[in-house]
Amino acid sequence: MSYRIGVLQFEPKFLEMERNRKRMEDLLSPVEADLIVLPELATSGYLFQNREQVIRVAEDAQTGSTAALFRKLAKAKSASYVIGFAEKDKGKFYNSAMLVNPDGKIFVYRKTHLFFEEKKWFEPGNSGLNVFEAKNGVRVGMMICFDWIFPESARTLALRGAQILSHSANLVLPWCQQAMITRSLENRVFSITSNRIGTEKNDGNELTFTGMSQILSTKGEILTRCETSGECVKIVEINPEEADNKLITEFNHAFLDRRPEMYER
Ligand code: ACM
Repeated sequence: MSYRIGVLQFEPKFLEMERNRKRMEDLLSPVEADLIVLPELATSGYLFQNREQVIRVAEDAQTGSTAALFRKLAKAKSASYVIGFAEKDKGKFYNSAMLVNPDGKIFVYRKTHLFFEEKKWFEPGNSGLNVFEAKNGVRVGMMICFDWIFPESARTLALRGAQILSHSANLVLPWCQQAMITRSLENRVFSITSNRIGTEKNDGNELTFTGMSQILSTKGEILTRCETSGECVKIVEINPEEADNKLITEFNHAFLDRRPEMYER
């Protein structure tokens, strides 16, 4: 099956929800693809100072303005999108990503492993690590940014049948893009890491985001990668079914050769 997957890298402006949604719409409107992944907290920016700011930007995953925009885009472009956003549900706040499909269905992942001051603003995700069907039934396992440093995240998604890892990110540490090569190849899955760019300053804190959004093959090859700065949209054509083959050699299978009885839990 031929499937066009893509990554969008841009610079969300802090708390400028309307501007950020418009920028994403403008960048995505001319692009033809089956699945495109966008950064973590793409609607709001990242470096919150207080709970009031989180309350201001948080949205319902099904009825918010971001859901409405991406439902419209998904239908018009016949594409699936994954986008990071601040989620509000029953008085609680999550660092989440939504998968929006052309039929209007939305699936939500809530970040399992919170990074740094996110622990002050968000609940640890309670959705679990799940695999959802994107356009044409392609199986997407959703993770967010710092989930990368726990190999169990990608492994769990792969064991649950993911063909592609969607990895919405706001990366500040220098290791992730290289580490994801191993996540892809040890699990034999494609991965799409969408990272933001730019610097945010707040109350003496300053974070610079590392760009280098990338798409990796099931063997960890870099199919495409953006620069450390600059907006960027990249599309590559893959066959998602390659991820269903877990053979490493004719004698070795990435999953069946595992020996969990030998491992520490
Ligand atoms: C991160 O999880 N945003 C580094």
